[in-house]
Amino acid sequence: MLDTQARARLFERVTARGYDVLPATAGLEAEAAARDPWDVAAQILGEAPVMVERQPIKPMPQGKSFASNAAYTPLHTDSQMFGGVSPHVQLMFCAKAARDGGVTLLVAPKPVFQMARSSPSTTLS
Ligand SMILES: [Fe+2]
Repeated sequence: MLDTQARARLFERVTARGYDVLPATAGLEAEAAARDPWDVAAQILGEAPVMVERQPIKPMPQGKSFASNAAYTPLHTDSQMFGGVSPHVQLMFCAKAARDGGVTLLVAPKPVFQMARSSPSTTLS
């Protein structure tokens, strides 16, 4: 569980740059998140979430998207609308390191929004 000070630091960093990476924290491991995502989200956020959508990302024999097969994964965003509303928080856990690659690129959203506003036709590549 995050204590009050750790949660405050997390919220400060997320407010400042749009994301944060937590150090390994007892009780907040990937196994715990897979077992009880509601509880882990509440431990991190300090309050029960309104809704939790859990998306296990792993190769499946008949997987059709890069989230469910072992194909190359291009740069992409990891969020989905629910009931027409974007997620307010996204928590990502790594259950098993990739044999190859496995790089996660976190991008501060504010500069991306500013770029999109100033040059709407700009594409990210
Ligand atoms: Fe992803």
